[in-house]
Amino acid sequence: KERTFIAVKPDGVMRGLVGTIIARFEQRGFKLVALKLVHAEPAFLEQHYADLKGKPFFPGLIKYMSSGPVAAMVWEGLDAVKTGRAMLGATNPLASAPGTIRGDFALVVGRNICHGSDSVESAEKEIKLWFPEGVVQYTHALNEWVNEV
Ligand code: GTP
Ligand code: MG
Repeated sequence: KERTFIAVKPDGVMRGLVGTIIARFEQRGFKLVALKLVHAEPAFLEQHYADLKGKPFFPGLIKYMSSGPVAAMVWEGLDAVKTGRAMLGATNPLASAPGTIRGDFALVVGRNICHGSDSVESAEKEIKLWFPEGVVQYTHALNEWVNEV
């Protein structure tokens, strides 16, 4: 059972899209195992986006991400990382297919409303960074109806 780190960025929170984004993951059949609102410090976000340090948009990205609360969450389920990314859509919302979260709710890359881990390894790193306290364990009521058990 795979886990991915998904976050609603400050623009998504400010625009009232937290519930909509959570609903999409719930409806797909994923299980929510961690959730909190965090107003992150720039230094923390520099850790989160460490692989992008040096990019011309990096300072703007840190400013954007620290401009308000982020809804941080961990979702669990089959192929969660790849499927989560597919549900978010392409990084640049203009290239995101309609039906994806960015393709339905965003227009520009610098305000693309959500984050998703890009690999199982980054998911593990990001979950540790954002949820050092760990995630919760419970049996999802829908488990046997969503998965072949
Ligand atoms: P995340 O899920 O947020 O990690 O996005 P991603 O994995 O689709 O893209 P990437 O990790 O390469 O970039 C991280 C974030 O930086 C993007 O989601 C954008 O918010 C921002 N970003 C990426 N490229 C650009 C760019 O060319 N210009 C601007 N302004 N922002 C960018
Ligand atoms: Mg990324």
